[in-house]
Amino acid sequence: MTIGFILNGEAVVVHTEADRRLIDILRETFGLSGAKRGCLSGHCGACSVIMNGVVVPACIIPAFRIQDQAIITIEGFSQTDAYQDLRSGFQEAGVELCGYCDAGKILIAEALLAKNPRPARHAILTSLSGIQCRCTEPEDMVKGVLAAVDIRRRRLYDRTT
Ligand code: FES
Ligand code: FES
Repeated sequence: MTIGFILNGEAVVVHTEADRRLIDILRETFGLSGAKRGCLSGHCGACSVIMNGVVVPACIIPAFRIQDQAIITIEGFSQTDAYQDLRSGFQEAGVELCGYCDAGKILIAEALLAKNPRPARHAILTSLSGIQCRCTEPEDMVKGVLAAVDIRRRRLYDRTT
């Protein structure tokens, strides 16, 4: 079938089987390799993308469901100030970004901050608990998100710098 959708702000078309996984369309058809093929069952977060403003696992989204939808991958999100806040916060806290789980870690953290700009520690832990990260301790992820909160606050509100 032929499917049209919005990918990182651009209208695109793909010819594919109706049940092909979105993660494979992104990686194989569009060369976007930021979302990774992990568990392929919707549990590890490595394949995360934003679909219509909501973070979803691209491994369990079949092609027919993306018709006319807006998809943002980590590549698209990395062009934003919001991405830089999180990347800087994670770096400040010594959080690894090895590439495997970055899409999940960053997009899920952003989804949390969009709903709750000053999240408590337990809210951060709960949000990121679905990410299977081999490189970072959960406590460091909490520090990274809290650092990103400060960085964002300074970017948005501190006009003295
Ligand atoms: S690969 Fe999609 S959630 Fe694990
Ligand atoms: S940063 Fe390496 S798996 Fe998460």
